[in-house]
Amino acid sequence: MNNSRGGNILISFQDVSFQYKESDPYVLKNINLEIEQGEWVSIVGHNGSGKSTAAKLMNGLAIATEGEVVVDERAVSEETIYEIRRKLGMVFQNPENQFVGTTVADDVAFGMENLGVERSEMEVRLKQSLEAVRMKGYEDQEPHRLSGGQKQRIAIAGILAMQPEVIVFDEATTMLDPRGKKDLLDTIQELRKERNLTIVTITHDLNEASYSDRVIVLNQGEVHFEGTPRKLLEQHEMLPLIGLEAPFVTELHQQIKKHGLTITHEPLHYKELVDELWKLHLKK
Ligand SMILES: Nc1ncnc2c1ncn2[C@@H]1O[C@H](COP(=O)(O)OP(=O)(O)OP(=O)(O)O)[C@@H](O)[C@H]1O
Ligand SMILES: [Mg+2]
Repeated sequence: MNNSRGGNILISFQDVSFQYKESDPYVLKNINLEIEQGEWVSIVGHNGSGKSTAAKLMNGLAIATEGEVVVDERAVSEETIYEIRRKLGMVFQNPENQFVGTTVADDVAFGMENLGVERSEMEVRLKQSLEAVRMKGYEDQEPHRLSGGQKQRIAIAGILAMQPEVIVFDEATTMLDPRGKKDLLDTIQELRKERNLTIVTITHDLNEASYSDRVIVLNQGEVHFEGTPRKLLEQHEMLPLIGLEAPFVTELHQQIKKHGLTITHEPLHYKELVDELWKLHLKK
């Protein structure tokens, strides 16, 4: 299935509404969205805006009450969830809860065992996946002894070994320190390039979202905005109104503007802001 931009659509929500119980209010209301193969999309929104529910609908942990979620041309339903989970891996906030093996190797192999991957093939994939997340040499370590960032990388290796088309990260960097966060985002970026993976990151952090190609903002269960991170930051005035905080670089840019300095575009990262300031300085 192709969209109007000519891209191959991997995930789509078609008029999707969802309630957990019939007596509960709708937590997602008439959602329409498309994610292309190879794209990195972030989903942002205030607490309770429906981000994790949207993720659950993608891998069949929840099934749409109305409308349809389609992953790689298959509607997500009880019948298709196993097939879909091969294509769509998920990494969650707390890596502790994701470990099943007593060693790193066992843990990474677990998903492959469930898929019935042959022993020799398993060994090849185990090696490749650990290399991809830069955790080679940790095979015999106990997962609980690793740092938060390393644990998340092992969780990713377990998913990579299953050779999915798309990985969804639900607040996967939340428990990490700034260095661990940056490192995980770099890993995601590398994997995406090397393996042509489709990436969905769910986050509160607009600085993190600024690394993605496109941002979808949820507000009270509805799509409030869709566009590039830069376009979102240009509309920074709406952010507090929908429970989001502008990144520090955006705040800083506002302060600089108040001093009469004009920068040609909304900066996404410090480096862009600094480069622009240098240009202004050199022009003087
Ligand atoms: N298992 C459940 N049963 C009933 N209601 C639920 C369940 N899980 C979530 N909800 C409700 O659905 C709404 C959306 O929750 P969801 O977890 O999707 O939001 P979120 O955007 O991921 O929030 P957060 O930023 O806190 O992770 C919230 O009102 C929440 O209370
Ligand atoms: Mg959530």
